[in-house]
Amino acid sequence: MGEFRYNVPLGPMNSFGIDATAKYMLEFENSDELVAYFKRPDKPSDRWTVISGGNNILLTRDYEGVVLHPTGRRMEVLGEGKDMVRVRVEAGVEWDDFVAWCVAHGWSGVENLSLIPGYVGAAPVQNIGAYGVEVKEVVESVEALIIDTLESQRFSNAECKFGYRESVFKNRLRGQAIITAVTFALRTYSEPRLGYGDLKAETQKLGEPTLENIRRAVIAIRRRKLPDPKEMGNAGSFFKNPVVDQTVADALQMEYENMPIYPVGKGRVKLAAGWLIDQAGWRGAVRGRVGVHERQALVLVNRGGATGDEVLDLAREIQHDVEQKFGVKIEPEVNIL
Ligand code: EPU
Repeated sequence: MGEFRYNVPLGPMNSFGIDATAKYMLEFENSDELVAYFKRPDKPSDRWTVISGGNNILLTRDYEGVVLHPTGRRMEVLGEGKDMVRVRVEAGVEWDDFVAWCVAHGWSGVENLSLIPGYVGAAPVQNIGAYGVEVKEVVESVEALIIDTLESQRFSNAECKFGYRESVFKNRLRGQAIITAVTFALRTYSEPRLGYGDLKAETQKLGEPTLENIRRAVIAIRRRKLPDPKEMGNAGSFFKNPVVDQTVADALQMEYENMPIYPVGKGRVKLAAGWLIDQAGWRGAVRGRVGVHERQALVLVNRGGATGDEVLDLAREIQHDVEQKFGVKIEPEVNIL
């Protein structure tokens, strides 16, 4: 286990680039180190949170407790069969390094999730998804330390209670469990999933739909649409796409014929928050040091030196306008700390 660091600047540790400080920070490699930490009599604070890649958080104040940061980066093959390979990956691995490793080995299942920023340990928390694939489709189990009991527990895919940008770790176990590793079940054969948006056309430009080409196509689309946090602070989609009753979507489509919808079953329909925000006139808007990205209205940006509260104020204005115009509530996807 590393040593405590004090008054650590969090600016470099959050993709929004918001300046804030953590009173204490401690790195951990695995569950044993976490247990040792939580048993320490000289803990500087009982408060803790985990920041890994910091790609899905908005900091609105200094953090007065201990920020725990995962550093375990092992990736191991547990077994390989004819159709499937099982791999165990520690929480501190960069998500996209894991995707690149899978593609290089010819294992399919995560290529559509190329270039999503963040660490492997954070992927199940919000069930990351892009281009028609969600990580829940390849998660076999998740290992997490339960803080109450200091016991490591393995959650099967069903026990993770995955939903659209949801899991048990965001809900019942929020603030009570720390993910230390994820076991994935990947296919050893390719099964391209090119149905979403312009992915098929982008892949065809590169040739056959090999894993490498799908990965390159996803990367090209993401680079085109999403701002690079190194150049402009952001946390990807700031809001979740709202899920509404089919009747609500039907009524809206009477008025807005070209409104995109994605049926999710059981009479429910997902609307595109980006489209709603765009139609409400917010795409490309600038409010002092914050704004709305000009190519993807779902992404709020720090134009330089913004505070978390400035981003929140903008978010509230947008929520208000979207609700006024469409009668639909949109909720943040990022964690507000
Ligand atoms: N749209 C607009 N204007 C905009 C943005 C979008 O009209 O400013 C329209 C698009 O033309 C399209 C629809 O809205 O018809 C959906 O847009 P897009 O395909 O860009 O996807 P999204 O629903 O806005 C979701 C994820 C992204 C993911 C993309 C691609 C959420 C909250 N976001 O965005 O994930 O990359 O699909 O699969 O589900 C993230 O979570 O941080 C993230 C970037």
